[in-house]
Amino acid sequence: MTETAVGIDIGGTGMKGALIDVETGEKLTERYRIPTPEGARPADVASTLAELVDLIPDISKRTPIGVAFPAVIDNGITRTASNIDPSWIDLDADSLFSDTLNRPVRLVNDADAAGFAEVRFGAAQGVKGLVIMVTLGTGIGTALIHKGHLIPNSELGHLELDGYPSYEKAASSAARERDGLSMQQWAERLQRYFGKLEALLQPKLFVVGGGISKKSDKFLPLLDLRTKIVPAVHLNSAGILGAAARAARNK
Ligand code: BGC
Repeated sequence: MTETAVGIDIGGTGMKGALIDVETGEKLTERYRIPTPEGARPADVASTLAELVDLIPDISKRTPIGVAFPAVIDNGITRTASNIDPSWIDLDADSLFSDTLNRPVRLVNDADAAGFAEVRFGAAQGVKGLVIMVTLGTGIGTALIHKGHLIPNSELGHLELDGYPSYEKAASSAARERDGLSMQQWAERLQRYFGKLEALLQPKLFVVGGGISKKSDKFLPLLDLRTKIVPAVHLNSAGILGAAARAARNK
């Protein structure tokens, strides 16, 4: 029998989910989407999550559910809230979601989910060494995966660099829009960022995700790094795939 799990990705504007074959990474249903409730407070997000799961056909009470979320996840507790409502800090989100859905739910940091998906099913398959996934969106998310093993909650988007206490404020996709940067100007900030990561961690491969990675041909060629850098393969679905794959491993 095919091993399946539901993957859900909770983002700033939308909550997306699908049923996934966790051996191949194939989507077995369409990708369902519901807008993230205004303010994204915990109880509202939990009830929207229940609605979203209800839309997905062919699942049983035993189908694992994985949820990718933009915060540090410490044993199911959301520890940080950089770009989300502060009420998530130190919340037992795992219990909130599991109680609302009346079934176990497994939470994972959104960038960790995306990175894990790219290693299992995408741009970083079979890399013998450290892979660093960097998602460029409202913030900067990072995932460190060494020979298939995820080192969770790396949070390197908050590196202090060039006078910015948290470099995501300088180099995220939202920062580019906020500051009206050309691709060349943005690439100069990305160069500082990836150059620093490369010097500190000596990865074998960088994988770049987030919505803007669709336009990676406009900025990746402007970077001058020793490390190979490639766009994510599963642009919009990496979070869903990774959350499902992590949930299936730990059921
Ligand atoms: C958060 C990370 C998250 C990233 C991308 C950062 O601000 O601290 O936990 O992975 O944004 O959503």
